[in-house]
Amino acid sequence: MGREYSLDSLQIDRTGAENLHRQIYAQVRNLIEARVLASGSALPSTRELSRVLGVGRNSVIAAYDQLALEGYLRLRRGARPLVVELPARARPAPAAGGRAVDVLSARGRLLQAQAYHSGRPGHLVLHPGMPDPDNFPFDTWARLLSRRARHARHDLFGAYHLQGYPPLREAIARYATVSRGVNCGPDQIVVTNGAQSAFDLLARLLIDPGDAVWMEEPGYYGARAALVSAGASLVPLHVDRGGWRLDPPTRPPRLIFVTPSCHYPLGITMPMEQRLNLLRLAEASDALIIEDDYDSEYRFQGQPIPALQGLDVSGRVVFVGTFAKILFPAMRLGFVVLPPAICDRIVPALATTGHFAPLVTQAALADFINAGHLTRHLRRTRRLYAQRREAFYAAFDAHLSPWLSLQRTGTGIQQVARFHGAVDDRAFVAASAAEGINVSALSMQYHGRAAHPGLLLGFASADQREQERALRRLGLLARRLAEPLAAASLPDGTVRASAATGSGGEGA
Ligand SMILES: Cc1ncc(COP(=O)(O)O)c(C=O)c1O
Repeated sequence: MGREYSLDSLQIDRTGAENLHRQIYAQVRNLIEARVLASGSALPSTRELSRVLGVGRNSVIAAYDQLALEGYLRLRRGARPLVVELPARARPAPAAGGRAVDVLSARGRLLQAQAYHSGRPGHLVLHPGMPDPDNFPFDTWARLLSRRARHARHDLFGAYHLQGYPPLREAIARYATVSRGVNCGPDQIVVTNGAQSAFDLLARLLIDPGDAVWMEEPGYYGARAALVSAGASLVPLHVDRGGWRLDPPTRPPRLIFVTPSCHYPLGITMPMEQRLNLLRLAEASDALIIEDDYDSEYRFQGQPIPALQGLDVSGRVVFVGTFAKILFPAMRLGFVVLPPAICDRIVPALATTGHFAPLVTQAALADFINAGHLTRHLRRTRRLYAQRREAFYAAFDAHLSPWLSLQRTGTGIQQVARFHGAVDDRAFVAASAAEGINVSALSMQYHGRAAHPGLLLGFASADQREQERALRRLGLLARRLAEPLAAASLPDGTVRASAATGSGGEGA
């Protein structure tokens, strides 16, 4: 059974200009056609609705009868009427001359054509980069949130503090300095709705259409999408197991995007020599660098590597952090550390972009950090994920090693595996999604042609038994799909990344 709706927001005009039953009929029909009332949902009984709207019952009966006659409702004796399933929505009519009407701007078309990987609620096992919901201290979080919500009437009530709630900016500045070696004060912090909103904000503020942007290849599709949508002309910064290929770029970039602490997707860390070289190249091109530090807190081998930002003496590194991995993605909180020279230029733009984050959540997060919960949670999850990582390796070897090899790296909560042969990794991902397993395709992380088909697999989000079961199912899938799919791949064994041609979402 679907949801129940009260319909008490229907607007009734009692001036007599239109029949009451026509008014009810027209508004309910609009709600059904707009899919606000989903198919299968129950509407109020005629008696209830006439009481709620203060109209005669006959008006409601007449409206419901008409809706049933036209196929919008199914009436049932002694039960609430049900909204029926409507056929798929009609496409917009072609304009004269046969050209489809497109309401989107050129920027809008770029935005909607970008690839993404979103996942589905409940399908967490092996989801790349996803933390474990069963080990998040939701009771503590709920207590802090509700306390702040209850006392929000003063400084958390209006759209204040566009740059971020000051106590949270202070807490973030301390955390980034101590844990990540970032060199900053609270005035340099901007709190955003996750890292993605920071990428969009920075892309819009820092580049003009046609500007060269040096983007990791392979690289994070989310950042790439934001840059391309702002009109960037991408220049590939190739990354492979040997690291970042820092030959002087063919065109001097205006902006450089890197993930030095934990490369996305390969999981490698940028060596010191390459960091210094990168800073020198940025200086030579007078470029800014966006350092995406998304997964650096989970380092399972060796010492934590301080941020590139901490080495920067010329104010060119814009550091982006997120709470998506160390807390959870739906919290939608992240932050930017701006070089002091550009702070004043960027903060006023936040009012226009609307990229500022909800204050009650920000205040609860400040309390969470200041009371030591973040540190405790990180300590606990580091231990837990380290065990899961070992179990993941063992299960991977047992079930997938005939078809894929794993690139074992020391940082982050996901790993890359490459198919031994030519396999359409996007088709493989679609087949896995049909089984409720939400991995993502390595080819999707390339702007151009993928060097190898492969998969990104997360090992943090589910316990070892569930993970083992899912890897076994992927093994069966590989047995079934790896051979026949090989024929669909390109002759040289690579798979073309359709993101380059704007294929839209993977949406697994
Ligand atoms: C490379 C990279 N950067 C940043 C993020 C975080 O994005 P957000 O904070 O918008 O959830 C992710 C999330 O998957 C990521 O993979």
